[in-house]
Amino acid sequence: MTKRLEILMPDDWHLHLRDGEMLKVVTPISARYFARAIIMPNLVPPVTTLRDAEAYRQRILAALPAQPDFQPLMTLYLTEDTKAQEVEKAHLSGIVKAVKLYPAGATTNSQSGVRDFDKIIPVLEKMAELEMPLCVHGEVSDHDVDIFDREAVFIEQVLEPLRVQVPMLKVVLEHVTTADGIDYIRRGGDNIAGTITTHHLIINRNHILAGGIRPHYYCLPVAKRERHRLALVQAATSGEKQFFLGTDSAPHIDAAKLSPCGCAGIFTALNTMGCLAHVFEEADALPNLEYFTSRNGPNFYNLPLNSRTIVLEKSENPLALPATIKTPIGQVTVFDPGFNQHWYVA
Ligand code: NCD
Ligand code: ZN
Repeated sequence: MTKRLEILMPDDWHLHLRDGEMLKVVTPISARYFARAIIMPNLVPPVTTLRDAEAYRQRILAALPAQPDFQPLMTLYLTEDTKAQEVEKAHLSGIVKAVKLYPAGATTNSQSGVRDFDKIIPVLEKMAELEMPLCVHGEVSDHDVDIFDREAVFIEQVLEPLRVQVPMLKVVLEHVTTADGIDYIRRGGDNIAGTITTHHLIINRNHILAGGIRPHYYCLPVAKRERHRLALVQAATSGEKQFFLGTDSAPHIDAAKLSPCGCAGIFTALNTMGCLAHVFEEADALPNLEYFTSRNGPNFYNLPLNSRTIVLEKSENPLALPATIKTPIGQVTVFDPGFNQHWYVA
C-alpha cells in the first residue's frame, strides 16, 4: 500500500551551492525540493560584502530552471575585518538574512574566519540590534583538541562567553552533532536554535571508520558516537521549535573526496527528503516532519511559512534515485543512507 504525506514545502537552513559549473548542476536539485535555502558563503574568495552577496545571488538565480521560484537567502562570511556598517547595509538590502561565523581553520574554506573572537563583538552587537541571526560553525580548530570533542569545547569556551557578552544575539548553532549541543540549545532560551543535517541523523562514526575507511561519509563536524546520533534523532523528531533542518549538503567531486587528504562534505540535496521521512517514520514521528523541515526554521528567522506543499510517498519499489551525478568538473557521489529508500518526493 502506498503511504502519502503532504507537508508545507521545506526550506534548507544550511546549504552549499558552490560556484561555476558545480553551482549550475546542484542549484536546480535543491530548487526541486526546497522553497528557500540559507546559502553558505565559503567560496574562494569568500562572500564578505553585500556586493559579493548580490553578485552570488544573481549567479544562483541564473542557474535556476524557468519556473521554480526558489529563494536563495544570502549570508555574509564574518571576518575579523567585517564592519558593523556593512552588516547593517546587507540586512537592509533584504537579500542577506544571516552572517556566518567560521572559526579560522575549522572546515572547508575557513582560512579567512575568526581567530580572535573579541574582534567581532561590535558586529555581533549590531546584529543583535537588527535581530539578524548569527550562523555558527560550532567547532574549535585548535590542534590539541581532539576532533570528537571540538563541538563541546567550542560551546563552553567560545559560544557561551560570546552569548553572555551579547545576550540578545540570535544564534543558530549549525549542524549539531552531539548530545552536548542539543542540551545546550534546549537550555538556551528563545535566542538560540540548532540545525541538524540529514546525514548526522543516519550515520555515526563507525560508518566512516569501521571495516574500512569511507571518505564519502567524512564531513565536518565529523559524525560522533551512536549515543549522540540518537540524541539528534530525538531532538529532530520531537517537533521542538528550536530544531530545524540544515542539510549542509556540500558537494565535492569524487576526486577531491577520494584522495590522501580528502575534503569534508556530503552531498545530500538529492535524497534528503526521502531519507528524513524514513528517519521520522522509524521514530514514529512522521507528523513532526513538517515542524522540522518547514515550520520551525521560518519561525526562528521571522519569515512567513511557505504556502506551497510537497507530497511524499512511500512504496515498495520506488524509482531509484541516482547514486552519483555528473558535473562538467567531475562526478559527485550522492549520500548513501545505507537503507533502501522507500520514501520519495512525488
Ligand atoms: C562544508 C564544505 O564542504 O563547504 N563541509 C562539511 O563537511 N560540512 C563546510 C562546512 O559546513 O563545514
Ligand atoms: Zn556547511
